[in-house]
Amino acid sequence: MSDFVDLHSHYLPGIDDGVRTLEEGLELCRRLRGLGFGTVMATPHIRTAMFDNRRPGLEAAHAAFRQSAQGKPELPRLGLGAEHFFDDVFWGLFERGEAVPYPGGKAILVELPRERLPVGLARFFFQMRLKGVRPVLAHPERYRPFFRRSEAIDPLIDAGVLPLLDLMSLTGKYGRGPRKAAERMVDEGVYYAACSDAHRPADAATVQEGIRALRRRVGDSEAEELLAANPRRILAGEADFE
Ligand SMILES: [Fe+2]
Repeated sequence: MSDFVDLHSHYLPGIDDGVRTLEEGLELCRRLRGLGFGTVMATPHIRTAMFDNRRPGLEAAHAAFRQSAQGKPELPRLGLGAEHFFDDVFWGLFERGEAVPYPGGKAILVELPRERLPVGLARFFFQMRLKGVRPVLAHPERYRPFFRRSEAIDPLIDAGVLPLLDLMSLTGKYGRGPRKAAERMVDEGVYYAACSDAHRPADAATVQEGIRALRRRVGDSEAEELLAANPRRILAGEADFE
């Protein structure tokens, strides 16, 4: 069986727009395991005025979830990160060491505003890298500046960012702009890894469709890199994407 690593999902119940109940959270994890994800990270939103989550609360919620997951061999290995919306609040958290990096502390998942790129973004990403933390960029294909052309991502990649494909973008779940952008950026080799960004158990079927679409586009061995080897490298702090 495949041993993929999902760096982006919302299986922690009741703390963002992800699953609402413990049962749903367990069911989502079960279904992702069924698709081949042997490891799944919870990445709840940290976004001011929408999801004002902080590390202590997320750690407590994750510990409680783990407790409920114990003794269920059909579940994947679990880990905690967060999907940090990129703004001043995030930067403050990051500088104070209060952000929620992936286990091991080598990388952090960042989300951008949909309509335009924040000013000086590449510089911030470069500073993160200098501090030994790789910024992982959630679903670039879902941001308008990348709908038609990929060029704007080049300075971000130069600054050390690792782009993460949302598999469901390839199915058209988010509309034509993100689907076209995802297909183009897959063909161009822009992505370092691929993830589910699943919010509901029902998303698993769409993620499966996305994995099929990815395999058709890049072949099985490149798909395995994006789904297994590269996310592992991110967690190990060994990502090399110059
Ligand atoms: Fe997400």
